[in-house]
Order: sequence, then C-alpha cells, then structure tokens
Amino acid sequence: MDMIPSQRNRLLSSELRRKLDYKEGENEDGHLVVEIMRRCFSPALITNKSWESFHFVGHQIKITEATDCYGAVVWPSALVLCYFLETNSKQYSLVDKNVIEIGAGTGLVSIVASLLGAYVTATDLPEVLGNLQYNILQNTKMKCKHQPQVKELSWGVDLEKNFPWSSCQFDYIMAADVVYYHPFLDELLLTFDHLCKDNTVILWAMRFRLDKENQFVGRFQELFDLEVLSDFPSLNITLYKAMRKSRKEV
Ligand SMILES: C[S@@+](CC[C@H](N)C(=O)[O-])C[C@H]1O[C@@H](n2cnc3c(N)ncnc32)[C@H](O)[C@@H]1O
Repeated sequence: MDMIPSQRNRLLSSELRRKLDYKEGENEDGHLVVEIMRRCFSPALITNKSWESFHFVGHQIKITEATDCYGAVVWPSALVLCYFLETNSKQYSLVDKNVIEIGAGTGLVSIVASLLGAYVTATDLPEVLGNLQYNILQNTKMKCKHQPQVKELSWGVDLEKNFPWSSCQFDYIMAADVVYYHPFLDELLLTFDHLCKDNTVILWAMRFRLDKENQFVGRFQELFDLEVLSDFPSLNITLYKAMRKSRKEV
C-alpha cells in the first residue's frame, strides 16, 4: 500500500529524523526505510531515564540510553543491521555461531544476534560497558540459547593480549556505524584485521558522512573483499558483507 509522505513522516519519530537527516521522498528506498524505522518506539512521556524500545525477532527490546557519549544512543545503522539479521536469518543463520560485535554501543545488534541463537561477545570502550551490560542482561536473560558476554575492546589496543589471534574463531564480526569523525580509523582497520580469519564474515553497516571518513572504505578494500548487501540512499547507509582477501594476495 502506498503511503503519502505525511503518513510516512508520522512513523519516523522526530528523534530518529534528527539522527538521520532523513530526506523524505527523494529516494526509492522509502518503503523499506519506513519498515525498518517502525521497529523503534520512543516513549510519549519524558521520563528521568532515556530509553527507546525496538521490535525484532518477536521480542520487545528496551534500550536504556545515555546522552553523554557517542555509544549511548541507538544509531540508525544498528537498526539496518538488525533488520537484515532478522529478515535473512535462514541464509545467515546465527544459531550456535560465534559472533563478536565491535563498537556495540547500547547493544541492540548484539541482543538481536543473541536472540537469534548466537554465542555473542559485545565489545566497546570501558566507559560504555556498564550501560551495555545492563541492556544486554535486561533483554537476553532467560530468552537466549547462549548468554552473551560483554568485554572491553578499545580498537587497536592490547589486541593480542585480550583476543589472541590463534584463538579468535569468529564466524561473524558485526559493526554498525563505527566509521565517523574519530582519530582511531587506523586502529579500527587493525582490529578488523586481527579478529578476522579466512572464513569470518564481516557484516558492517556504514553511515556515510564526510569524505575523509568515507575514504576508509577504499583502505578497507585493500584487505577485504567487499560486497554491498543493501543500500539506503535516504539514510546514507550501506550494509556491507566482507571477507578477508587471501593473506597471500595482500
Ligand atoms: C556511533 S556509535 C555506534 C554504536 C552502535 N554500534 C549503534 O550503531 O548504535 C560508535 C561506537 O563506537 C565506539 N567506539 C568509538 N571509538 C572507539 C574505540 N577507539 N574503540 C572501541 N570502540 C570505540 C563508541 O563507544 C560507540 O559505541
């Protein structure tokens, strides 16, 4: 059923539109974007705790947000990745798969991956871990086949000590909106490289903002074969699948 723009707009919360800089009606992806964004509900009343609620894989997921740092809200790339995981759960089955999420933030992607049956390690900077752990526990306890873990992973720091290369056996590395204006892009690339074995699949949702950060994609492609899984021009988000180029070729 076709929706008129005003109907579509009502489905996007004002907070999401602010985060997205959503350009109504300019692109063909409008219907899918609305379908993805309607998985998010913001409370009508302002409460002392900031939270949003999401609906994925048959579960209501309540995410507590903080407003004082970057990882403390759910970013639209996370919704794009969660929607992909839910709607492609046969082709990309996560049951009993070993998954690590980097830059997990408030934890939505890790929660959805856990609800889909994966062994999940959600990682981020130390200052984000308290809220991440809280959200993950609240939304996965007694609901998941395998209880997810939360671990510190500061990109490029002590990788071999905390995640020894020989014992990293991840089927999937997941990342949503980890490339933006920050000084750790080299370290981020190092981290992907370190965690990735030849058969690891990277699922990475990238929000395009500034040219300098966007050049990261070119550098990433020197190490990894990159495939576009889906593209959302009206969100400036692309979802990529990547696998390591053979170490011989690099
Ligand atoms: C834009 S937020 C995205 C959060 C979440 N993935 C989402 O899409 O909702 C970027 C995330 O990267 C994390 N991050 C930034 N710099 C980092 C670093 N040097 N090492 C590890 N994580 C980092 C932030 O703490 C934050 O959680």
